[in-house]
Amino acid sequence: MVNTSTPTNSLENFFMPFTANKDFKKEPRLLEKGEGVYYYNHKGDKVIDCSSGLFCVPLGHGRKEIADAVHQQLLKLDYAPSFAISHMPAFTLAERLAKMLPGDLNNIFFTICGSTAIDSAIKIIQAYQHAKGQSQRIRFVSRERAYHGVNIGGTSLSGMIKNREVFTATMPGVVHLRHTWLEENKFNLGQPEHGDYLADDLQRFVDMYGPESIAGCFVEPIAGSTGTLVPPKGYLEKLRATCDKHGIVLVFDEVITGFGRTGEAFGANKYNVQPDMITMAKAITNGAQPMGAVAVSDDIYNTIINSGPEHGVEFFHGYTYSAHPACVAASHATLDIYENEGIFEKAKHMSSYFLNAVMDELKDIPIVTDVRGDGLMAGIDLAVDGKPGVRGYDAQRKIFANGGHLKFTGDCGIIAPALISTEDQIDEMISVAKEVLVQY
Ligand SMILES: Cc1ncc(COP(=O)(O)O)c(C=O)c1O
Repeated sequence: MVNTSTPTNSLENFFMPFTANKDFKKEPRLLEKGEGVYYYNHKGDKVIDCSSGLFCVPLGHGRKEIADAVHQQLLKLDYAPSFAISHMPAFTLAERLAKMLPGDLNNIFFTICGSTAIDSAIKIIQAYQHAKGQSQRIRFVSRERAYHGVNIGGTSLSGMIKNREVFTATMPGVVHLRHTWLEENKFNLGQPEHGDYLADDLQRFVDMYGPESIAGCFVEPIAGSTGTLVPPKGYLEKLRATCDKHGIVLVFDEVITGFGRTGEAFGANKYNVQPDMITMAKAITNGAQPMGAVAVSDDIYNTIINSGPEHGVEFFHGYTYSAHPACVAASHATLDIYENEGIFEKAKHMSSYFLNAVMDELKDIPIVTDVRGDGLMAGIDLAVDGKPGVRGYDAQRKIFANGGHLKFTGDCGIIAPALISTEDQIDEMISVAKEVLVQY
């Protein structure tokens, strides 16, 4: 039963993240229940989830198998540290992930979210370069419009201006590749034709700062939070070649693109480029428990481990909640569903229907200035109205009032349906947005 009572709480005490707190508290949008691709708000209205929560619920809401697994795990073993002691399901989960991942990313470091996966990845690279006698590699490369979470490492890598502008204590030595949005690629589905040359920026950094000063390069295969920037054809291949040539560790941040979002297990599979590390989170537990992970190549893992003492800790890093039993249980149950229900195949199959529907229905709306996408993920840019972000914020609120949850970043809406969505549900997601966007 949905609770239809209006909130009596003043709402003052929750300092909300990435939210216009003052506005929200005047007009709260509270979710009470989730079932399949639908949420229900505190007034009992049905709200279709066009963005899989925050791109983290590919199997739809309220999956009983996952809830039961967490419940049973908490009754059996609620907590186990992973410092110098652990529990077997963590090892079996690492083994399953290693089998699912491309190449030799056989070594899984568990974290508690995407942001902690990014900070862990930065430190793994530093430990690796140190073990190789390459401690002078102090620089990291990221990209304009990148989102790599919000810890200090991720903020330093961030290419989104608002996410970094007031935070002064970031890591030094981070340089940013140009982003890959290009005018000539507007209204394109799949990988755009133009822009592989933008990867040459990495070679320019090598030339500028010296080939032995760069430790690692982070990119999202599809830049997600900024609005689904699909990599131009040949772009990731060029980054790979430059990293190989100069001993730079290439990390794909697959916190959004992992677990079927592109129609393949990972973006690395989809675009057929092998990184040295992959960061992941979100869909690793279908969003039901907070968890992240870093998958590390055999070379990086072995180099760090073999450079450590015979009987001592090799890598001084970890979290109280690394491989938390409830999160591990949620992830096992999630992976079971991915496998048993052929979810990645389903997503691949649904992709062209989804992408064509988004393009056909939204491209001619006067305020829509670009539509693009790949897999089950699309970005819709709206013309700026005065100040950047004003129209996107207004549209997000109006779409919610019209019965849809659609995540906006600035003036870009990101449609990312659950991978289990039917054609009818995809149509409903698009029309709930369209009904609002045509009114501007
Ligand atoms: C590519 C990418 N990396 C990292 C993160 C941070 O993940 P979290 O919010 O779980 O810390 C996100 C979150 O959206 C993301 O999209």
